[in-house]
Amino acid sequence: MTIGWWTAVLALALLGSWRLAHYATQPLHLAQAALQELSEDKLSERLFYPEADDEPGRVFASLNHLLDQVEEAMERQRRFVGSITHDIRTPLTIIRGDTEVALMQERTAKSYREVLESNLEEVERIGKLVEDLLTLSRGHRGDLSLRVKAVHLDMLLREVRRQYQEAASAKGVTLSLFLEGEVEIEGDRDRLRQVLTNLVENALHYTPAGGKVDLSQFQDENVARIIVRDTGVGIEDKDLPHIFEPFYRGAQPGNHQGYGLGLAICQHIVQAHGGKIWVESQVGPDSGTTFFISLPLRPSARATSRVLTQ
Ligand SMILES: Nc1ncnc2c1ncn2[C@@H]1O[C@H](COP(=O)(O)OP(=O)(O)O)[C@@H](O)[C@H]1O
Ligand SMILES: [Mg+2]
Repeated sequence: MTIGWWTAVLALALLGSWRLAHYATQPLHLAQAALQELSEDKLSERLFYPEADDEPGRVFASLNHLLDQVEEAMERQRRFVGSITHDIRTPLTIIRGDTEVALMQERTAKSYREVLESNLEEVERIGKLVEDLLTLSRGHRGDLSLRVKAVHLDMLLREVRRQYQEAASAKGVTLSLFLEGEVEIEGDRDRLRQVLTNLVENALHYTPAGGKVDLSQFQDENVARIIVRDTGVGIEDKDLPHIFEPFYRGAQPGNHQGYGLGLAICQHIVQAHGGKIWVESQVGPDSGTTFFISLPLRPSARATSRVLTQ
């Protein structure tokens, strides 16, 4: 063959491999172009790729799944900002209205006291919300400051039960405590109390009259275990993987005035202690929810590095 022939064959081969490479990378170009087009106000759009079963098709499906999650998270944040703005503005309006009316004319000391007490209640409600948001953002950054001391878990559980005994009886729910001996751990008492109160408040809220909420605690080798079990309405399968996410609220929030922050905060606090928290739940007959917590008796090296004293 002549040199001209060889040149033609080489040129064809090069063209062929270029086209192959072009087709092989085309899906990536498509994905890149589509992703570049995305913006916050176009989050409902999805990437299209005709072949669902080949490898690029699966990559596109994964990217679309990721977009579903981003869209849901943004929607939750939007709803949260809407409801939080409302929930902060309402008590502020009440405080301002009551104060203005109180200042319009001379009143008795009793009447001033009533106004101040009602205002204090509203201020405490806003304060609790702001405190929860702060805890959440610190937990997120991994700098939740713990004031670590010896904590008698059994005594803490007794206190929490005492705190909620009246509310449970008023609702017709039996709140019981099962302690297997004394368990002492090193941790932040106030933060651990916050975990327990969040769990017990949820349990009481989601358990109808006639139901039971059991608090148990025992020691298992080097780990303290706490179980909060209720015979309440249970958590739907679709909600279960998300309930520890901030701002996530299940399908049955009822009239509960929550923001979906409680469990996210519980998880941050437990993890800052080097522990774990998880849940099992069932809807329908024999419905109910059980939260399990395991805490090392001494904070692990990882958790200790985050331990600060304020
Ligand atoms: N004991 C429980 N029984 C049934 N559902 C629960 C229970 N605890 C939590 N949940 C579900 O988990 C969601 C998140 O809980 P949480 O973070 O405490 O937020 P909130 O109480 O503000 O809704 C709740 O909205 C509810 O759907
Ligand atoms: Mg809650």
